Amino acid sequence: MIALACDHTGVALKGELAKMLDEMGLEWKDFGNYDAANRDDDYPVFGYRAAQAVASGECDRGILICGTGIGIGIAAGKVKGIRVCTCSDVYSAELSKRHNNSNILTMGARVVGTELAKMIARHWLTAEFEGGRHQRRIDMIERIENGLDPEA
Ligand code: RB5
Repeated sequence: MIALACDHTGVALKGELAKMLDEMGLEWKDFGNYDAANRDDDYPVFGYRAAQAVASGECDRGILICGTGIGIGIAAGKVKGIRVCTCSDVYSAELSKRHNNSNILTMGARVVGTELAKMIARHWLTAEFEGGRHQRRIDMIERIENGLDPEA
């Protein structure tokens, strides 16, 4: 199950990504926003809801959209257990899974076009975490998250 979320800037792109997930045979759940006209919405709300769903195991991963991908990514990354990659290129998206085991991808609806966003998401969704030395580094990130020195 893929968590989808966006603020008003990302409603159209989120819809295109949902269609792509349907074509890939992947289930998704939409955590809002649903209203592209509501410029008063707050991206942390939607980032938090989707990140909580991933952290709790309700969803396996998430794809989140705001204007730049940055704000919603910062918000989602505050949830324990969430590793966000904010991407506007395919290489970073793929490597963020292979090396960093990212569990949330964010993109900027005002940064990437629809087709590039879909390509980035496809690469991210199909890449596999490589484990090994990369797992050691993820463990270090978890120690930091728990207020510990990564080498402790
Ligand atoms: C909304 O105007 C914009 O600030 C938001 O979508 C996002 O880009 C924040 O990081």
